[in-house]
Amino acid sequence: TPARFTLDQAFTVGAVDPRLYGSFVEHLGRCVYDGLYEPGHPAADAEGLRQDVLALVRELGVTTVRYPGGNFVSGYRWEDGVGPREQRPVRLEPAWRSTETNAFGLAEFMDFCGKTGAEPMMAVNLGTRGVEEARQLLEYCNHPGGTELSDRRIAHGAKEPYGIRMWCLGNEMDGPWQIGHKTAAEYGRLAAETARAMKMIDPDLELVACGSSGSGMPTFASWEATVLEEAYEQVSHVSLHAYYEEVDGDRDSFLASAVDMEHFIESVVATCDHVRARLKAEKRINLSFDEWNVWYQRRFQAQTPPDWDVAPRLLEDSYSVTDAVVVGSLLIALLRHADRVTAASLAQLVNVIAPIMTEPGGPAWRQTTFFPFAQASAHGRGRVLRVEADSPTHTTAKFGQVELLHSTAVVDEETGAVTVFAVNRSQDQALPLEIDLRGVGARTLAEHSVLADADPDARNTLDEPERVAPHAATGTTVTDGVLRAELEPLSWNVIRLT
Ligand code: AHR
Repeated sequence: TPARFTLDQAFTVGAVDPRLYGSFVEHLGRCVYDGLYEPGHPAADAEGLRQDVLALVRELGVTTVRYPGGNFVSGYRWEDGVGPREQRPVRLEPAWRSTETNAFGLAEFMDFCGKTGAEPMMAVNLGTRGVEEARQLLEYCNHPGGTELSDRRIAHGAKEPYGIRMWCLGNEMDGPWQIGHKTAAEYGRLAAETARAMKMIDPDLELVACGSSGSGMPTFASWEATVLEEAYEQVSHVSLHAYYEEVDGDRDSFLASAVDMEHFIESVVATCDHVRARLKAEKRINLSFDEWNVWYQRRFQAQTPPDWDVAPRLLEDSYSVTDAVVVGSLLIALLRHADRVTAASLAQLVNVIAPIMTEPGGPAWRQTTFFPFAQASAHGRGRVLRVEADSPTHTTAKFGQVELLHSTAVVDEETGAVTVFAVNRSQDQALPLEIDLRGVGARTLAEHSVLADADPDARNTLDEPERVAPHAATGTTVTDGVLRAELEPLSWNVIRLT
């Protein structure tokens, strides 16, 4: 039996905030050093940024970049990364047992943002530091001039203020692994006071409070409620983090990871709205899903920790076609909640659980997960249409009965073009799909692109960097206002109608 749904422009979820297609650069492993920044590489520009990486970041369609961490930020002194490079201190970096040279810092990051067109999303250290340092960093970045800190920025070469709008108030402060880990009450107060001080300097900032570092945390949901009770008026977003991996060969459950992600989102929305009701507040808090991806965390935990090396190879997951289909499904989950998820960051961008890989002195290439992200960012702009699918199901060990089809659709309101994103979760069965287009104007098939492979473990590597790429599907038709397609087993699909 086919999976079916009807598209109608009258029924929408909400507008897609371009910030949904954000990513994340942390001082971790080879994300920065020997990743996007490698002075001396043949493709490096005068500032040491690899132009081959910059081109791939632009192709990926990244709209925002969260920086500089991650766990890293909770022990970071931002002053170490500004000013003349030869005067910057080398320090122990305890979060990842690495040595931080500080050769890359704020100015280099802003240069990276300028060259990729990405909006910076800056995180402040609320682990070892607090209100004062956050306030100082903001003044250094955003104040036009005439004060010691803003003049220091100018003296460092940045005449114009950076104008950074979005700020994360710490990182994963609920996690016992976090430097300066806090209880919800401690963090809620600190977040509120930091936010208040920052908004005294710039009332238009958009501030993100740390939610839980995963829905499995013992304090999940009560953490969000406590933090928001303190900081509700000061923040615009609460953060969510989630990583998925295949465990013990249970691929059906892994392919259904978005079931967990959607449940997580809905739980945080409910918690935010509960606090809204309690506080009789008018505004709603939106969600910043500012760390999400497939991450083989169990493999990472089994590795010997680094021994204070500079830019060690850490978290360098190689992604298969299966992983890319899951990433596509996670993108669908975010889009299906675009009314409340108004920012998100694929963690991370280069080398570290990343869509882009590099070799020092060598090439840069696209992992399999690059493709669903790039396609969603290119075509998933506009308004999300409600998709209420009637789909065949199967049973998974982790989530019980799960629909084989996971899908969403986005209409570009200017052109009327509609893009359907769809995943077939079945590992061995093609899934016939019928879409009734009665409520949308677009009736001409422009493209049906599919990412699937006879070998679902196929991946792109240094030796074979172009082994996997999307291909055109065959047999997709539109007749009498009905689109008919066959979704290959274990596939990510982009169907564009004009
Ligand atoms: O993205 C890798 C790490 O995952 C981040 O540093 C941390 O915030 C999360 O636990």
